[in-house]
Amino acid sequence: MTEAATILFEERQIRRRVAELGDAITQDYAGRSPVLISVLKGGAIFLADLIRCIDLPVRMDFMSISSYGGGTKASGVVRILKDLDQDIGGEDVVVVEDIIDTGLTLSYLLSTLVAREPASLAVCTLLDKSARRIPPLEIRYRGFDCPDRFVVGYGLDHEERFRNLPMILAVESQAKLAEDPSVLVPFLTAGDRQPPSPAAPDRA
Ligand code: PRP
Repeated sequence: MTEAATILFEERQIRRRVAELGDAITQDYAGRSPVLISVLKGGAIFLADLIRCIDLPVRMDFMSISSYGGGTKASGVVRILKDLDQDIGGEDVVVVEDIIDTGLTLSYLLSTLVAREPASLAVCTLLDKSARRIPPLEIRYRGFDCPDRFVVGYGLDHEERFRNLPMILAVESQAKLAEDPSVLVPFLTAGDRQPPSPAAPDRA
């Protein structure tokens, strides 16, 4: 389609894996009502699909964070721009991320959430760029191991665009993409959107 990017995870592959993760959470939290927390913005797409694959009365909540200036990604220390609406004290909490890269952001966030004394705290990420991990992290639910590539789509952006791509792309040439971001536009219509059919439930 274009040499600037190739498909790393197809839409169907993502849908199937999200359903499997939802089933695992449904089984692990049977009889309970976990709170799923997403860190805006990328994780929101994954969270929206994931909760519809969980057969429990879950709640969802969102946090928005920002780096403290230039060097912060190196420390992971973040400023909370929007905090949770709900108190998570005594609750079962699952933090839902689109991608864990160095793990610094999540490591810092987990330490702030632990201080609020949830009954339990687990991590669910769609993509795990494990080769880049700095602090050790326990990830209970992992969609795919992700190669150390620049990835876009399904929540992951290129300069705030293309989060709505139905698949996840690996960018082959960041130079080409920087020069002309519209090279990704053809992928927007390359999904496998189908009209809903009562005879074909879309969970497998
Ligand atoms: C991404 C992702 C994680 C973080 C992971 O968010 O959603 O929150 O980076 O990076 P780390 O493991 O190296 O700390 P990003 O900062 O791109 O914000 P966005 O979701 O709004 O695009």
